[in-house]
Amino acid sequence: MEAAAMKKPHAVCFPFPAQGHINPMIKLAKLLHHKGFHITFVHTDYNYNRLLKTNPDSLKSSPDFHFETISDGLPPAAKNVDRDVVEVWASIVTHGVGAFRDLLNKINNNNNIPPVSCVVSDGNMLFTIQVTDQMGLPNVALWVTSAFVVMCCLHFPHLRERGYSTLKDESYFTNGYMEKTIDWIPGIDSIRLKDIPDAIWTTDPECPYVDNVISEVSRIYKASAVILNTFDALESNILKALSSIVDKIYPIGPLDLLLKEVSNNEENDGIQSNLWKTDDDDCIEWLNSKDEKSVIYVNYGSTTTMSQEHFVEFAFGLANSKQNFLWIVRPNLVTGGQNLLLPEEFLAEIKDRGKIVSWCNQKEIIKHPSIGGFLTHCGWNSVIESLAAGVPMICWPFIFDQPTNCFCLCNNWGVGIELEKDVKRSEVERVVRELMIGEKGKELKKNALEWKKKAEAATGLGGSSYMNLDRLVEEVLLSP
Ligand code: UDX
Repeated sequence: MEAAAMKKPHAVCFPFPAQGHINPMIKLAKLLHHKGFHITFVHTDYNYNRLLKTNPDSLKSSPDFHFETISDGLPPAAKNVDRDVVEVWASIVTHGVGAFRDLLNKINNNNNIPPVSCVVSDGNMLFTIQVTDQMGLPNVALWVTSAFVVMCCLHFPHLRERGYSTLKDESYFTNGYMEKTIDWIPGIDSIRLKDIPDAIWTTDPECPYVDNVISEVSRIYKASAVILNTFDALESNILKALSSIVDKIYPIGPLDLLLKEVSNNEENDGIQSNLWKTDDDDCIEWLNSKDEKSVIYVNYGSTTTMSQEHFVEFAFGLANSKQNFLWIVRPNLVTGGQNLLLPEEFLAEIKDRGKIVSWCNQKEIIKHPSIGGFLTHCGWNSVIESLAAGVPMICWPFIFDQPTNCFCLCNNWGVGIELEKDVKRSEVERVVRELMIGEKGKELKKNALEWKKKAEAATGLGGSSYMNLDRLVEEVLLSP
């Protein structure tokens, strides 16, 4: 390697090994690459091998952007594509320190690449600080959630002190307890317990998981800085409140828009990270054949699962709405794996009005002019990608931060309609029609377009996210 290339700053980017965490980290890695960094992107062995099968091109290294792998500490599971994220997290948090230290040493012993100068860790993987502290390296946390969710998570210890976690028995979930409102979290006027990220609710008082979550979250105070895929205008109050608790916060989202700006529209460099094989080749052509804003896009992200009953309710709700729909049905979406058993009458009814594929390139699909709404599980990436595209949402949250995102979409940002958890076809039909052709839908679409404009302003030249990226690089990543 040439002497100049050896002098580049070198960022090691280490996401939590799940799709919703890998995607924003790869976008951040590309941004840093555009800012002149040499990048090492770290997958776990399991995902690396999976990508080799589903998407080998996504692992192609260039001279200053390469991939490494480390073990997640679990035994190999070649055929199991549904690894439990909580199990993976528990394992990697326990076993990851040694593996990560070995990896950094290996990189530093390689005379053909510049030595590591900083680490970007997923906010759930800040055990890496134990390694970077010893090596004297900055370690920046990428939290792949909203600032609102980070604020709630930082108050887990307070919730526990006040007796709101580690619930003793199932009745707490059914006697109205979760409807109780909390009004003392800074920046949040009032929120129901059930809208708070669900990581601390358990019916098992002995469960060590809550302690682990709380202690891992508290590592945020030790990170050199915190990066968020959000933008100032979207979460100004919360970001202000958060800045008084956590030292250095850099909101640089929506990452897709910032990447488009920083790369001069050349972000499609082949480096991506789909753990599933995309089969959306003819989707764009199909969308091209539809009227503007006439298609509801339905996708539940990478981890949500549902019963066969709910799946069938969605199918008939979509069909009965008489609206065009593009429905992404992941191979492991339905528990028990029977999701492709769609009734004949459904298929006969939808004809060319509906299209079903198993995995798509969402960030391209969502911005197609024919997409008029998004029925989503409210994973944060889906939410911010939808806001960046100016598309309003129907919210069917599942777990983690998703109920909290749903709360913000429906109550704070005016771009969401919530769908009952125990979903029924008549309700799906009603909310889809409401969003696509109803009066409320018009208002939500207008609001969504406003957020899109604000997101573009934040990521355009001189905007808040654009400037925050530069500040992050200068103040933290390149700071001696
Ligand atoms: C998880 C959590 O569930 C979520 O709540 C958290 O905020 C991040 O991690 P996931 O459930 O997969 O993520 O949802 P989401 O956050 O929406 O991330 C999914 C990502 O995969 C998005 O970037 C989306 O664009 C991409 N995707 C999904 C595709 O590209 N194609 C698909 O067909 C489905």
